[in-house]
Amino acid sequence: MSRLVIISNRVAVPKARGAAGAQGGLAGALNAALKKSGGLWFGWSGETSENPSSEPHIGTYDGVTMATIDLSPHDLDEYYNGYANSTLWPLFHYRIDLARFERETGRGYERVNERFASSLAPLLEPDDVVWAHDYHLIPLGEDLRRKGFTNRMGFFLHTPWPATRLLVSLPYHERLVKTMLAYDLLGFQCDEWLTSFLHYCEYELGADVDEESGRIELDGLTTIARAYPIGIDYQHFKELGETGEARQTAQRVLSSTRHRTAMIGVDRLDYSKGLPERLDGIGRFFDRFPERVQDLVYIQIAPPSREDVESYKRIRAELEQKAGQINGARSRIDLVPIRYVNQGHTQGQLVGAYRACKIGLVTPLRDGMNLVAKEYIACQDAEDPGVLILSRFAGAAQQLSEALLVNPHSPDDIAEKIRQALDMPLAERKARWKSMRNCVRDENIQRWTENFTGDLDKLVRA
Ligand code: G6P
Repeated sequence: MSRLVIISNRVAVPKARGAAGAQGGLAGALNAALKKSGGLWFGWSGETSENPSSEPHIGTYDGVTMATIDLSPHDLDEYYNGYANSTLWPLFHYRIDLARFERETGRGYERVNERFASSLAPLLEPDDVVWAHDYHLIPLGEDLRRKGFTNRMGFFLHTPWPATRLLVSLPYHERLVKTMLAYDLLGFQCDEWLTSFLHYCEYELGADVDEESGRIELDGLTTIARAYPIGIDYQHFKELGETGEARQTAQRVLSSTRHRTAMIGVDRLDYSKGLPERLDGIGRFFDRFPERVQDLVYIQIAPPSREDVESYKRIRAELEQKAGQINGARSRIDLVPIRYVNQGHTQGQLVGAYRACKIGLVTPLRDGMNLVAKEYIACQDAEDPGVLILSRFAGAAQQLSEALLVNPHSPDDIAEKIRQALDMPLAERKARWKSMRNCVRDENIQRWTENFTGDLDKLVRA
């Protein structure tokens, strides 16, 4: 069996692993996947140093070899804060108004991808199978081919893929997208992103595209593109629910919200998550149903993220102001409607909090998948499950259609869905939850990894 080599910007090296909330979906998901399969995980150490060595630091944890390199502050600025998070991330999340287009950061992005390839190449065996992840590493496959790696390579995009009309606003977009054709298999979170990608290849690159099979042919290269909706480690979440940490957290939430329904949101502090819009929706709920202020408490866990990027600083300030305004107007001496928490929490604490909250509010303006929605479902009590309110613009909405689907741009719709969730009879809650639970349990992270790596195994480079 070939060794699996996973490459991602962040590597969840145990000593560096932060609280679950801050870790983000990708690192948690891959860690679960590699625990099963063994292999090598390569990426950035999360550290910066002035003249970083190209030789990776290597360690083995739980049978998984982790190889990491440091980045220089200059590289970090151009590649991570710059092109990845100030150009591609906003653009891929349909926020062209926030996207910055600068030649220097684009060059820095290519340079760091090249550095990743140079540091990784000596560690690769000819029959390794490479699986690269996310928007930070789009050109990496082509860099590895140039260094002589010929075996199978796959790439999975965890974010949305934008509509062609939007993507073409990126200077040199063809150059970036063409590098993706160096991979044998490309994975997207859902059909919507996949269809946009195939459309781009056909109409902008002039590739030969077979929509049915996802086969793309251009300049003698053949690539297959498919949708592989990512899941969570369902069993792990079930087991966490049994821990003292989860039980204690659930107890603390319940005893501090007595006689009121607790509603929870857990998001990295990112403008794509629709947090100010969500608070507007909660404010609208209180405006429309003032008699229900004492029925509801909203717990928003929002660990700060990408704090060196200007748009992230702004969203943090905006959110603090909005939460303060709503609490100022609606609090009573014994009641504060919004608890806004900036710290990350351990997974065990999150599981307990999900369990104690009877409404999960997940309203991104755009999201590749959104694993919080799936975690919330996994943690509910079968006898008295909570209600999930989910943005129709999250990839997860394509699978979790029994959620209360909401337009995250509409405060009225959010307010109305909160009312429906509060008033939903137990039988309906159970029926909706059960169908979503089955999906989350069956379409789990193990299945996702098997599907992607299984397809990669079957493909022989044309
Ligand atoms: C999203 C991205 C991941 C990223 C995570 C956390 O889930 O798809 O690639 O790791 O956010 O963001 P960060 O910038 O802290 O790695």
